[in-house]
Amino acid sequence: MIRLDKVTLTYPDGDRRLVAVDHAILTIEHGKVLGVTGPSGSGKSSLLALAALLIRPDSGRVVIDNVDTSTLDGDALAALRRDRVGIVFQQPNLLPALTAREQLVVMGELSGPSSRAHRAARRRRADALLDAVGLLGQADRRPAELSGGQRQRVNLARALMNEPSLLLVDEPTSALDRERGAAVVDLVVRLTHQLDVATLLVSHEQSDLDRADAVHTMVDGRLRDDRSLLSRPRREEDACTTDERAHASSAAGSTTHRALPRAERSR
Ligand SMILES: Nc1ncnc2c1ncn2[C@@H]1O[C@H](COP(=O)(O)OP(=O)(O)OP(=O)(O)O)[C@@H](O)[C@H]1O
Ligand SMILES: [Mg+2]
Repeated sequence: MIRLDKVTLTYPDGDRRLVAVDHAILTIEHGKVLGVTGPSGSGKSSLLALAALLIRPDSGRVVIDNVDTSTLDGDALAALRRDRVGIVFQQPNLLPALTAREQLVVMGELSGPSSRAHRAARRRRADALLDAVGLLGQADRRPAELSGGQRQRVNLARALMNEPSLLLVDEPTSALDRERGAAVVDLVVRLTHQLDVATLLVSHEQSDLDRADAVHTMVDGRLRDDRSLLSRPRREEDACTTDERAHASSAAGSTTHRALPRAERSR
């Protein structure tokens, strides 16, 4: 669960301060997707950076799983971020030399013990997550050997490797065509429900947010509840029009009956 309680962030702007996030209030429960949309420069990525504990707010509180992060020092913030927060940035920032599986396994190694049993558990979780995003068959490929949509799906799987309780996704479809973008959003929604994470999905693409549980619109740093965006037909009623999307959807669905192996660390 994440709660932002009247969070304000300003940046230096000449001899004044630019208000990027203005007294933002939001709550996301486990298993729910909150969509945030709004024009360029309205403060969406700044909001995400606050939720990710990458920047401290000027005022207000960010509460993650009942921990008031304003009380934590830098080391404790970094540990909380590593253990509880998964981030998917706009551009998949995968390491060129590593295979898809290794991208995930390395993530697990940042926080877990290094015994043989733990390494095997991490590999099992990595493979289950790659299966969940429809890419187990590509586990041994490097980023240059994957399509843009596949890279973004590896990015999503990697963000989930350490069993975060909070998933933050910034404009995941902006570098993708419509169908591949829809497949990535389908996976974000399905895995949010399946893994019971609280998800903040930022997109200026309103169709990306059709399946969110709630949508807020950001204008000039201010958030407002926007129910009108939820009245559109739900994407589930659309036909699956490409193999990639159908594959991504069925792959995610296939794991609902088979629990993902947990990493070695429990929250
Ligand atoms: N590091 C920074 N220093 C100063 N100003 C910044 C910084 N980062 C962002 N800003 C400003 O803060 C405001 C909000 O930026 P932000 O990146 O959060 O917007 P956004 O809604 O994510 O936009 P986009 O849709 O283009 O990604 C903008 O006016 C931007 O110029
Ligand atoms: Mg942005």
